Amino acid sequence: MLDSDVLRLIDESVLCWLATSSASGQPSVSPKEIFASYNSDSIIIANIASPNSARNIRENGKANVSFVNIFTQKGRQVRGAVQERRRGDDGFEAMERVLVELTGGKLPFKSVFRVIAEDVSEIIAPRYRFFPDTTEQDQVESAMIRYGVQPRG
Ligand SMILES: Cc1cc2nc3c(=O)[nH]c(=O)nc-3n(C[C@H](O)[C@H](O)[C@H](O)COP(=O)(O)O)c2cc1C
Repeated sequence: MLDSDVLRLIDESVLCWLATSSASGQPSVSPKEIFASYNSDSIIIANIASPNSARNIRENGKANVSFVNIFTQKGRQVRGAVQERRRGDDGFEAMERVLVELTGGKLPFKSVFRVIAEDVSEIIAPRYRFFPDTTEQDQVESAMIRYGVQPRG
């Protein structure tokens, strides 16, 4: 379900945005930096400080995760069923290992949100559509100016 482009964009994206919803339909969106692909069909996120997302996930098992490479300004939205898994639950330790690689063990988390992808759609900056000659290099250069960053080295 998560093809190689999606996996690459997950690796390139510094943050994702997790959208959940309460039983009554009240949406909530918040950033998460400790996230990774899992089993090529899911995105897993460390629940470090996300009590509202956790409550929503218990009330409503659907979520949407968006992520963008802020330089190429391309990304994806992944929609699907979401589960919260805690220590002792099936599969928790395997997911924990993947996420501890990202935290280096420095950010504790008690549970993991697993979004099992049902549908993926593309996110791209409008400039690519309005000006079809736009290259990724153009977009990277303008993003670097906008964010005020220099190439490494
Ligand atoms: C840059 C950034 C990265 C964050 N990464 C995570 C994360 O990986 N996991 C997490 O649980 N909270 C993370 N947070 C904190 C949550 O987004 C924040 O506590 C938020 O208020 C939680 O809202 P929620 O309970 O609606 O999910 C991050 C916050 C920022 C600003």
